[in-house]
Amino acid sequence: MRVLDDLDVQDKRVLVRVDFNVPLDGTRIADDTRIRAALPTIQLLRDRGARVILAAHLGRPKDREPELSLRPVADRLAQLSAAAVMLAPGVVGSDVEALARDLEPAQVLMLENVRYEPGETKNDPELARAFAALADAYVNDAFGAAHRAHASTEGVAHLVPERAAGLLLQREVETLTGILERPARPLVAIVGGAKVTDKIGVLETFLERADVVLVGGAMCFPFFKAQGLGVGDSLCEADGVAPAKRVLAAARDQTKARLLLPTDLVLGDRFAADAQRRELDGVEVPEGWMGLDVGPRTAAAYADEIAKAGSVFWNGPMGAFELEPFAAGTRAVAEAVAEADATTVVGGGDSAAALSQFGLADRVTHLSTGGGASLELIEGKTLPGVEVLK
Ligand code: 3PG
Repeated sequence: MRVLDDLDVQDKRVLVRVDFNVPLDGTRIADDTRIRAALPTIQLLRDRGARVILAAHLGRPKDREPELSLRPVADRLAQLSAAAVMLAPGVVGSDVEALARDLEPAQVLMLENVRYEPGETKNDPELARAFAALADAYVNDAFGAAHRAHASTEGVAHLVPERAAGLLLQREVETLTGILERPARPLVAIVGGAKVTDKIGVLETFLERADVVLVGGAMCFPFFKAQGLGVGDSLCEADGVAPAKRVLAAARDQTKARLLLPTDLVLGDRFAADAQRRELDGVEVPEGWMGLDVGPRTAAAYADEIAKAGSVFWNGPMGAFELEPFAAGTRAVAEAVAEADATTVVGGGDSAAALSQFGLADRVTHLSTGGGASLELIEGKTLPGVEVLK
């Protein structure tokens, strides 16, 4: 993969694809982690005299929805980087080209939400050409969008004279592939969340490569159902039972990782912070109750495995951590990961949100900015946005 040091960017117009797809609360940015994560690349390019043109998407607009303008993102970037950030009136076209042409070294221009252009998600060659016309070189730092073959993440990279990975994308790819290919052992994988079908590829990868796989969250219930146990009113993905059976069968092979499922649960009578709550010694959930967290014995056993690890990969919460009465299992895992004397890598999305909620986000070796992208990389899939930089 070509990296920033392979490019001579002095005075050049560099189109930088970043992942600024931040969570919004109205038009207020609820979490600016992804903007902060791109700062080192933007700063390095400015220090080296590049004229920086940023391209990013926000949400999934069907047309030019004004509430998905990158205006708040441009303003936040300006605050964080202490640089003036000019927001273009559109994505491509003659106005934008004129602004790009007039940029001085170290100045920053941000294009409007690239998904305002219908050709973006179709990887339309004409749009890719319009992006390429703005710049002399292309840098992709949008790891979170690298699993998308879109005009600004893939198509454009074929059409510019030079291309390279940004610092964030490079670190993400190196760390995630490193934990798969050269992990300090034992490698402990913690896989949670609601749906087993979202994580099946990750489970299968870690059964092959890890020493221990710890399963939590509502995705346990298809496993319990596959074992003939009652799940009560728990969230239990019907399509997950067959893959769960497959994973259980694979885990019987002694050469594979040890697969641990919860042995006790915390139940609620409904999904609410003020639900009736009880602990269940066992995992057979009675009717009228739903499993909303792993129990204290499971949390302690998982924490124990994590404490012995040489490397840890974590993706997905252990329960409904957003509801305080059901947060203990996820908190115990988060604390064990933070305290582990190991290389700790956390996939984006809910596990990242959980770490932030518990104030532990800066206590892990690497917190990925990519949800879907990090899972696809772990599953061994090729990421189009990375492939094109090789
Ligand atoms: C993400 O938030 O996971 C990335 O920015 C990709 O967004 P998308 O799923 O809308 O393509």
